[in-house]
Amino acid sequence: MDIIQIGPGFGAEIRGVTLADVANDDATYKAVRAAFEEHSVLLFRGQEISGEGQLAFSHRFGPPEVTKVGSLGTGTHFVILTTIGDDGKVVPEDHRFAMRNKANQLWHTDSSFKSVPALTSILSARTIPDHGGETEFASTRLAFERLDPATQKKLENSFAWHHYGHSRKKIADGLATREELDALPPQCWRMVWRNPVNHRGALYLASHTYAIEGMEPAAGEKLIEELTAAATASGTTYEHKWKSGDVIMWDNRATMHRGRPWPGNEARYMVRTTISATAADGLESMRPPARVAAE
Ligand SMILES: [Fe+2]
Repeated sequence: MDIIQIGPGFGAEIRGVTLADVANDDATYKAVRAAFEEHSVLLFRGQEISGEGQLAFSHRFGPPEVTKVGSLGTGTHFVILTTIGDDGKVVPEDHRFAMRNKANQLWHTDSSFKSVPALTSILSARTIPDHGGETEFASTRLAFERLDPATQKKLENSFAWHHYGHSRKKIADGLATREELDALPPQCWRMVWRNPVNHRGALYLASHTYAIEGMEPAAGEKLIEELTAAATASGTTYEHKWKSGDVIMWDNRATMHRGRPWPGNEARYMVRTTISATAADGLESMRPPARVAAE
C-alpha cells in the first residue's frame, strides 16, 4: 500500500488497495485506518463500485447511519445525491434536489446536527458532470493548530449548538421540512474534537453551527464565521476533481467540506455512506456538561 500526499498538509491517495481488500482483510483495514487517523481525507481511485461493496468497506469503520427522513435513500444506509429526477432527466434549478445541492455547497461537516454525529463519510462518484462539481476539503485540525494557545484553550472549553434548520434556512425558507426539524432537535458539542489516537485537536464547526454557549448570539455568530473563514482560507484547502471510479472518505471530526457548483443541465449522481462516531472515536469527550445540555 502506498500513501501519496494530495492536499496542503492533509489528504492522501491510497494506492495498491481496493475497497474490497479493506472489507475482507484485517491487516489492510488496520493500515487504512491508521492512514485515515493521520491524513483525514483518503482518496481511492479506479474502484469498481457497487452499493454492497461500498457498504462492506464502510462498515469496517463503525456502525452505518440509517438515512434520515427527507433525504433520498431514507431508511437505507445510502444517501443519494443526485440531480436526476424520476423521469431520468436533470431536474430544474428550483427543484428540491437542486436546492439541497446548494446547501451542500456551504462549508460543513456531516451529521453534527444528529444526536450521534458522524466519524466518517464515504462518497463514490457514479455520474459526474463534465464541468465543476468538485468537492473541496479543509482541515479543521490544521486550522485549530494555527490558532494561538489562549484561543485554543478557550475553544477547547467551549460548546456550540448545531441545527439542521440553520444551514437549510441559509438557502431557502422551508427547505427543511417540519418532519425533518421534528426529527432533528438542536445538538450541543464541544468546539474541539481531540483525536484519541494521536491526541491532535480539531475545530468542530459546520454550516449547522448557530450559537456558542455563554456568548451573546451576535458575538457567537461572528466567532463562528471568523473561525470558518480562517479554517477554509484560500491556499489551505484541497479541491477534488472527480473521475469515474473515485471514492473518497473523510474524517468528519477533523475536516469540513463543500460541494462546488456545476452547470444546472449536467447530471451528477453520487452515493454516500456515513459511519457514526462511537466512544472509541472520542465521542464522549464531545458532550457538554449536563447543565449546558439541559438549557
Ligand atoms: Fe456533506
